[in-house]
Amino acid sequence: MKIAISTGGGDAPGLNAVIRGAVLASLHRGWECVGIRRGYGGLLGEDRVVPLDANAVRGITHLGGTILGTTNRGDPFRWPTSRSGGASVERDRSDELVAAFRTLEIDALIAIGGDGSLRIAQRLFREKGIPVVGVPKTIDNDVGGTVATFGFDTAVQTATDAIDKVHSTAESHERVMVVEVMGRYAGWIALHSGIAGSADVILIPEIPFDLAKVCEKIRRREVEGRHFSIVVAAEGAAPKGGTVSLIDPVHERLGGVADKVANSIEAMTGKETRTLVLGHLQRGGSPTTFDRLLGLRFGAAAVRLIAEGKFGNMVALRPPTFDFVAIDEALATPKRVPLDSDTIATARDLGISLGD
Ligand code: F6P
Repeated sequence: MKIAISTGGGDAPGLNAVIRGAVLASLHRGWECVGIRRGYGGLLGEDRVVPLDANAVRGITHLGGTILGTTNRGDPFRWPTSRSGGASVERDRSDELVAAFRTLEIDALIAIGGDGSLRIAQRLFREKGIPVVGVPKTIDNDVGGTVATFGFDTAVQTATDAIDKVHSTAESHERVMVVEVMGRYAGWIALHSGIAGSADVILIPEIPFDLAKVCEKIRRREVEGRHFSIVVAAEGAAPKGGTVSLIDPVHERLGGVADKVANSIEAMTGKETRTLVLGHLQRGGSPTTFDRLLGLRFGAAAVRLIAEGKFGNMVALRPPTFDFVAIDEALATPKRVPLDSDTIATARDLGISLGD
């Protein structure tokens, strides 16, 4: 058997652990492994396919990023080829990819990806007959069918560390600090880091916020002698009746909610309000122990799925064990924070305002 591994879309801490888990589990079975460079680019002649042996995956578990490289503009069904008159031109190159897959005599593909890359993997499986298994990757934790995606725990840890640090300076200067975290249209990172970091207000996409309620909480703290407040805002949070802030509407790049919220808080309360946008810091660095272990286990579980011929499926964490789920089922509905979850209830019980 010859297994190919691809890491497409935004990177997430733990990617290298998955690669190592998959490679060692393959070698253990006497199989051969190759890595596709830059998402699917390596199969389209834009980069290359590299052999992955035990040496190639030595000492990489703790490293952030991906040894294979990645790109967010790597959909073989809509490959950006050239620019004409400033407009980007897209071309379906999926048949070329299939031809490269066959020429290289690859027997199965492990697609490590978030919703975008897994959707491509799903199409390659359904429409082109490529034997694919998926591994759910994203710091956003918004892939369905699995309790957790790898990368999420590390991102939450990074965000929590930042919120902890912002506390002391906010208190010293008696300011409001608005910390913007990633997560796209899901509030997992904001909610988990906000609770762990003792935020006073947490704004998530699942609960449209009311700025009057946010300011009410800040004023109440003033009365109680707490002259600073920490607001954690998910990049996808939006006010009631409003829309999500976008930096780049064409590529749906989210961002800018912290500035908008901070300007309103300052205008409505008269308190000096500053912002901190954590951005890609949340995607970098060494994965936490949880993400390393999850990555290694996901990688090995993906190889077991291949050994059982269960293509078109994605490995999934369903504590205390690992399971699998059809990729299309996992992607059918993005996993958002359920409003009746105990985490939401806990935030409210702790007196944290969710802006509603
Ligand atoms: O999906 C992961 C993620 O980091 C999101 O949280 C964020 O909105 C997006 O990717 C940023 O993508 P890019 O690196 O393309 O700006």
